[in-house]
Amino acid sequence: MATGLDGRSVIVTGAGSGIGRAAAVAFAAEGSKVVVADLNAETAEKVVSEIEEAGGTAVAVTGDLSEQAVVDRVTSTAVERFGGVDVLVNNAGIMDRMSAAADVGDAEWERVIRVNLTAPFLLTRAVLPHMLKAGKGAIVNTASEAGLRGSAAGAAYTASKHGVVGLTKNLAVMYRDQGIRTNAIAPGGTATGLAVDIDGEAHGPRALGPYFGNVGRVSEPEEQAAAIVFLASDAASNINGVVLAVDNGWSAV
Ligand SMILES: NC(=O)c1ccc[n+]([C@@H]2O[C@H](COP(=O)([O-])OP(=O)(O)OC[C@H]3O[C@@H](n4cnc5c(N)ncnc54)[C@H](O)[C@@H]3O)[C@@H](O)[C@H]2O)c1
Repeated sequence: MATGLDGRSVIVTGAGSGIGRAAAVAFAAEGSKVVVADLNAETAEKVVSEIEEAGGTAVAVTGDLSEQAVVDRVTSTAVERFGGVDVLVNNAGIMDRMSAAADVGDAEWERVIRVNLTAPFLLTRAVLPHMLKAGKGAIVNTASEAGLRGSAAGAAYTASKHGVVGLTKNLAVMYRDQGIRTNAIAPGGTATGLAVDIDGEAHGPRALGPYFGNVGRVSEPEEQAAAIVFLASDAASNINGVVLAVDNGWSAV
């Protein structure tokens, strides 16, 4: 399978941990030059070292991606260091408290929507001029099982991930004639650092009761990364606007 990713400039957000880390390492193994973007400077630098020790090329950009200045820094680093933006992976995300709407405070709602939905929009808007100028590009968004159904998380996270699915499809339609493809993965339960702030009796999977069941086998981050790399690659050249569930069949139940 020819991925065509050798030498490409790739931005991966949330690349300091979990799915993003696995994706950054996988892109680097394909010969891509990777911008490792994350809130956590220590883990981002660690991933860059890991990639460099394996003979790859990467640079860390740290900061909160919900801030425009950080988004601009990520974009300009890709352009100045690696010559443009061929691939954008909007992967950084945070969990909610698994709460039903009546229990969601303003701060929780605003933060989850800001990080999970607004930040991917901001970064997409920032890289699009570069992709349009190049006449090509691939965007892969990390949605979630919670972007497909109402029984996988709380109100805020579920709304944010349905938003990511909507953004993905709209981008796919709006830019398909300009050579830019946008797809998403919808991970099921994956063994990462993603924290579920479960608040005792009222929240968490327990609040979703029997609807939360049938999750299936928990996946490894590398299994999610493989789907991200495929969707970003030339092997997926006619795939646009798809939300690929990587969930051991959870969404099929
Ligand atoms: N783990 C799962 O079961 C699962 C399931 C479905 C979807 N997802 C999604 O996968 C994506 C990756 O999460 P993960 O599971 O690898 O978790 P993770 O916590 O291991 O990694 C997320 C990374 O994003 C970074 N991050 C968080 N907020 C940020 C911000 N504002 N700016 C910059 N970086 C920020 C964190 O520092 C962390 O390194 C998320 O979008 C998450 O919603 C995860």
